[in-house]
Amino acid sequence: MKKDLLKLLDLSKEDITKILNVADQMKYNQKHGLTHNYLAGKTLAMIFEKNSTRTRVSFETGMYQLGGHALFLSGKESQIGRGEPIEDTARVLSRYCDGIMIRTFGQEEVETLAKYASIPVINGLTDFAHPCQVLADLMTVREHKTRLEGLKLCFIGDGNNMANSLIVGGLKCGMDVSVACPEGYDPDLKVLDFAKTVSGPKFSLVRTPQEAAVDADVIFTDVWASMGQEGEKALREKAFAGYQVNDALMALAHPGCMVQHCLPAHRGEEITAEVFEAHAGEIFDEAENRLHAQKAVMYLLMGEDRA
Ligand code: CP
Ligand code: NVA
Repeated sequence: MKKDLLKLLDLSKEDITKILNVADQMKYNQKHGLTHNYLAGKTLAMIFEKNSTRTRVSFETGMYQLGGHALFLSGKESQIGRGEPIEDTARVLSRYCDGIMIRTFGQEEVETLAKYASIPVINGLTDFAHPCQVLADLMTVREHKTRLEGLKLCFIGDGNNMANSLIVGGLKCGMDVSVACPEGYDPDLKVLDFAKTVSGPKFSLVRTPQEAAVDADVIFTDVWASMGQEGEKALREKAFAGYQVNDALMALAHPGCMVQHCLPAHRGEEITAEVFEAHAGEIFDEAENRLHAQKAVMYLLMGEDRA
């Protein structure tokens, strides 16, 4: 494993499998009351320049369960909000803490933070990627379907951070991946270039949700307007009309097809209330698994026997 978790492009299939295996073990330990305070005495600094419910609560709770401590730094209230360079923040936090989790806008900011920090940096969402979410997603699909290889993962909607990370994570784990998004909202070019280099699993980028959903084993979707794009809401509502996970779309997928949503969800937009509620068990398993997957990541990156 590398020092940091910045994006799934940096991880090998073996790295991902190892994280998922440790995550399953973390979940088992937690559910069975088994002690697993591997990070006793360690501190995780959590920098948030965007809103969060799941990421903040799961990281903070996860650190506590591992015997450590997490501290919340709001982008606005810390000196970051007053323009202190990220290079300096990286070096200061490295003198106090044992790891940094950051949620921000540009991927470059996270990469720079990691370059200057001597401690592990974990990407808790950028405009480009959401690796912790997709590790939890892969964990959830594997838990429900017992395997990933050979399954078909479908993503409907914006070619955003979730689409980017799902394409990379799915293909690396041997899943076929199909993505439907409107023209002008494609996934990142670096991700599409990566998809071209993959041999074995199939990748397709299409313009209609119907084409993408055929024979899917799991359908993912996400909001039409991500954090930071609130001003484009009306424009995006037009562009994404029809890019909805509904009963008609589900009928095209494999029987038993799962539905996943990283949340928060907008019922009546990217997903209907009916499909959401019919798959709520899987969707909230996915939310729960953020905790276990991130504990695995923190253990592997910040624990004493870092591999
Ligand atoms: N899915 C996710 O990252 O949720 P939050 O924005 O609530 O952290
Ligand atoms: N694409 C969404 C994901 C939220 C967890 C966003 O960036 O706002």
